[in-house]
Amino acid sequence: MIVERNVALARLNSFGIAARAAALVRVRGESDVRDLLADAGWGARSKFVLGGGSNIVLTGDVKAVVLKVEVAGRRVVGETAREVIVEAGAGENWHALVGWTLDQGLPGLENLALIPGTVGASPVQNIGAYGVELQDRFHELDAIDLHSGETFTLNAAQCGFGYRDSVFKHAPAKPGDMGLAGRALILRVRLALPKAWRPVLGYLDLERKVAETGIRAPGARQIHDWVVAIRRAKLPDPAVIGNAGSFFKNPTVSPEQCADIIGRDPKVVHYPMPDGSIKLAAGWLIDACGWKGKSVGNASVYDKQALVLINRGGREQPATGGEVMTLAGAIQTSVYERFGIRLEPEPVVV
Ligand code: EPU
Repeated sequence: MIVERNVALARLNSFGIAARAAALVRVRGESDVRDLLADAGWGARSKFVLGGGSNIVLTGDVKAVVLKVEVAGRRVVGETAREVIVEAGAGENWHALVGWTLDQGLPGLENLALIPGTVGASPVQNIGAYGVELQDRFHELDAIDLHSGETFTLNAAQCGFGYRDSVFKHAPAKPGDMGLAGRALILRVRLALPKAWRPVLGYLDLERKVAETGIRAPGARQIHDWVVAIRRAKLPDPAVIGNAGSFFKNPTVSPEQCADIIGRDPKVVHYPMPDGSIKLAAGWLIDACGWKGKSVGNASVYDKQALVLINRGGREQPATGGEVMTLAGAIQTSVYERFGIRLEPEPVVV
């Protein structure tokens, strides 16, 4: 185990925020975690798990020991009657895994192409795009308990998946609760890819691609390519413009509340949910409040998608976490004042 000291985190978070870690350990397998826990000096220190850093806002230097997850490996590990089970190390790049599964002739992840970050982060926020969420393709994961050093396996129910949510985002409210935030490090994820594959094309942007191209029965590779093109057109590439994807979750409201908003703003983008609630497009709400292109210091609202906050200062003069959170707070206030809706941030604020 090597403990690196005073490590710059700017290249380890997709916003490019210039914070530092007092100590950082690279985790390539469970033995790295066990060595750290057994260490007289470091074992008892608080710990922070860092994947691809694509869904965090660093508001200061990190005092906890940063565990940088670098567990590698991708392989087919088995099958059920209906699915092929693929396992990937938590440190693998998510988008590269999607491409690899397609190369193996295993479709199912194509709608989730180009989502930034690592495989290990994918269950934490139950990544989703274009009609597919991770939980639709999830089989199991192996994790290690950061207190006891024991490894354990969780199935989908035990992960408590919700919309951009899981047990890994919550600290236990009381003993016995399943909150695992700060408690577990995900080592490997196993995905169940359907043998009887069918395209998922219900999302408006994909329906448009079908109409534009006339390709009525696209293959998985075609859908992958469409999703990549759609994302490139409206989302900033974090390698060029620092960002953490959607900054807020899309809020859900009651049909009455939605009708009230439609009465005042007939164009509000809304989607009925299976449970009777209505999901509103947070990007539309923010856009309607006139936020596109506005800034606080070097943190700005992306001009092509109001749901994305960006670091417009690049690596030279990066936005601070404080600027990002001040901008986010001002957006929340104005959306609340106009629509009576409290937007909830999606990334983890550290
Ligand atoms: N819209 C505006 N103005 C804007 C932004 C959006 O009017 O500035 C409207 C769009 O025209 C569209 C609607 O709002 O009618 C929804 O926008 P979009 O299709 O871009 O999707 P989204 O709801 O903003 C969600 C996910 C994305 C995911 C896409 C595609 C959340 C918080 N975000 O965005 O996920 O890629 O759908 O499925 O659920 C992420 O989580 O980081 C992320 C990028």
